[in-house]
Amino acid sequence: MREYDLFAPEAMADPDAFLHRVRAESPIAWLPRLDAYLLTRYADVDAALRNKRLDTANMLRVLQRLSPAEQEELEPVRRSIEMWMGHTVPADHVRFQQLLKRYFTPAMVDQLRPRVREFTHELIDAVASKGQMDVVRDLAYPLPANVIAELLGMPVSDREQLQAWSRDIVPIFGLGDRRQLLQAQRSMLEMHDYLRLLAADRRREPRDDVLSTFMAAEAEGVLTEDEAVANCVLLLFAGHETTANLIANGLVLLFDNPGQLALLREDPARMPLAVEEMLRCDGPAGVIGRVTTEPVELAGTSVPAGKHVYLALMAANRDPEVFADPDRFDVTRRGSRHLSFGMGTYYCLGAALARMETDECLRILLDRCPDLRPAYATPDWTPSLPIGHRLASLPVTF
Ligand code: HEM
Repeated sequence: MREYDLFAPEAMADPDAFLHRVRAESPIAWLPRLDAYLLTRYADVDAALRNKRLDTANMLRVLQRLSPAEQEELEPVRRSIEMWMGHTVPADHVRFQQLLKRYFTPAMVDQLRPRVREFTHELIDAVASKGQMDVVRDLAYPLPANVIAELLGMPVSDREQLQAWSRDIVPIFGLGDRRQLLQAQRSMLEMHDYLRLLAADRRREPRDDVLSTFMAAEAEGVLTEDEAVANCVLLLFAGHETTANLIANGLVLLFDNPGQLALLREDPARMPLAVEEMLRCDGPAGVIGRVTTEPVELAGTSVPAGKHVYLALMAANRDPEVFADPDRFDVTRRGSRHLSFGMGTYYCLGAALARMETDECLRILLDRCPDLRPAYATPDWTPSLPIGHRLASLPVTF
């Protein structure tokens, strides 16, 4: 098994090329700087996602890297993460899935479509007279934030604040340092206070939203208020940051591939396949982590219990064994079995919602802006840890 450094200049400069090399050289790799294994082949990543001997407790890893004193400072974040669905014991995980699944079925998501169209038009209206915008700031972030806030039951007037909180908590999902994590904790606790007030409201006057469902479950003893609040924060973040990145990354892929953009303009009904290809080529969750709960064989290597394993979804999605000409962005590619929403027990709850939002948003943007053009020399990528990138801004003219 070879060793690699995800923070090496080569990996930072071109993550996809670097991961191609790792995949070809070493089916399972060791990352000494992260004290973790890395899987890059499609078959191995897919099997690991379904393997019950790997669990998602890796989220706590961001805290475990810190000194005992720092970990104590961040105790509230730890307690909250432990309550997030996906990071709970299997019985609790099923309890949350059962409570939430009805909000995320394809039929329910379809009902939200007109609202997503309305939001998209409103956001474009707000910048239309200027003929320019920053897609990240003006469209890609606020759209999913509005949608998830509405699903959860939050008033429109609070949405900017929610977006700011949501951005602050990003480091919890990456490899944030102490300063970033303390800021994340402050914002998370503010969000908790805010959600408790709103929850009290929903107890008195239930509506058709996730928070009311949580409060009804609380009344039946199925869930505590702390769990409800912690999972609203998870949903806000999960439903927002990822979809925003997909919309922005997807647009850059279209700008970089004018022929493919022309195909979409010619026939907008190609958009659902194009969204799948955006997910495959530049999905927002590039790498996810796991911890081995028992000794397990991964990619032909025995891995002891208690070890961290990174699953490079982004590398699996470009595995030439599975995808012909994997680096080609092709909006007509069919039957793509990308792993961008994970697989198995923890498969993304919001997959149908994210697909629909991206489809509607990009369709309307292309339709309303026939002269849409990038207003940058090179895309404004910032690294996302442990490997990959996201856009800090995306200026366009139209
Ligand atoms: C493009 C957008 C999105 C991407 C790429 C994405 C990606 C993922 C991935 C890879 C996982 C699996 C994590 C793991 O196995 O450790 C996941 C889980 C999850 N996602 Fe998403 N997601 C997106 C949008 C959303 C949206 C819109 C929501 C909610 C409104 C959402 C809610 C969740 C939740 C709650 C889980 C945990 C599921 C469970 O533990 O059963 N995601 N997502």
